[in-house]
Amino acid sequence: MNKYIQLFIFFVLFIVFIKDVESSSSSSSSSTSSSSSSSTEPISYDGWNLIFQDEFEGDSLDLSIWNEISQSYDYNAELEDYIPENIIVENGYLNIIAKQQEYQGHNYTSGKITSSGKFNTTFGRLEASIKLPYGQGYWPAFWLMPETNLCWPTGGEIDIMENLGQDDTIYGTYHYSTQCNQNEESGGKTITESFSSDFNLYSVIWDSNQIIWMINNIPYFKIEPTTELPLPTTTPFYIIFNVAVGGDWGGNPIDSTIFPQNMTVDYVRVYKRL
Ligand SMILES: *[C@@H]1O[C@H](CO)[C@@H](O)[C@H](O)[C@H]1NC(C)=O
Ligand SMILES: *[C@@H]1O[C@H](CO)[C@@H](O)[C@H](O)[C@H]1NC(C)=O
Ligand SMILES: *[C@@H]1O[C@H](CO)[C@@H](O)[C@H](O)[C@H]1NC(C)=O
Repeated sequence: MNKYIQLFIFFVLFIVFIKDVESSSSSSSSSTSSSSSSSTEPISYDGWNLIFQDEFEGDSLDLSIWNEISQSYDYNAELEDYIPENIIVENGYLNIIAKQQEYQGHNYTSGKITSSGKFNTTFGRLEASIKLPYGQGYWPAFWLMPETNLCWPTGGEIDIMENLGQDDTIYGTYHYSTQCNQNEESGGKTITESFSSDFNLYSVIWDSNQIIWMINNIPYFKIEPTTELPLPTTTPFYIIFNVAVGGDWGGNPIDSTIFPQNMTVDYVRVYKRL
């Protein structure tokens, strides 16, 4: 290789290295993480203790933490069947793959995992670094459900992140009711243009007196308990990742929707206040 080219490459790498050092030192001083790097470095937050993490570093899903769900679509007029085959852990990522595929009379397969019975928490800071699929008909979610068999949504439901693939809106929602299937909810939303091109950190801080929703550690929505919408304070909640296809919220896929696509999770971490 030409000496000048070598020198030039060295110079470029040096600049990149300097920038990296700069951004990591600025992020640690403000206790926030960088949005776009698919970091596998455990990070810490002042005042919080890491109690749970999955960095998806193995070559299969850790079944001591997760359940692989097999389920025909039951809810919201969705079109997918959840099958364990569509859950792949490799190269440091969890991939939940949504496919257009005939399966038991249905036209789409996808994946869903839960930590029910294996990991749960009441309160905490829960975060996952995720890259989402795009296009009409995709409905990925990172959410929490109570470890109780109460009818929905009387035990509450905390949706940390939901997206409808046709646009870059990210939704954070709390559901509750005193009556079965009588949904009361309070939610916020924000725009994340890089939702499908990059990893973003989706999180909540859940305390007895508030839930705060954040993207890349920037809050965009907060609720405090009210008489109609009390917050759960004793029930343990477990984690769910899934990609629904179609359904009565975002609508069904259209011809131009590209299949297959993945919801890719770099890591999920849970912290509790010290
Ligand atoms: C989706 O995940 C699978 C399994 O990890 C991988 O082989 C495939 O390359 C991924 N697709 C994309 C577009 O990243
Ligand atoms: C699957 O696709 C076919 C062809 O478009 C359609 O006729 C059928 O109703 C679809 N099945 C379901 C369960 O949606
Ligand atoms: C909560 O998770 C723990 C494991 O950390 C498990 O032993 C316990 O059964 C779970 N609680 C419920 C109510 O399922």
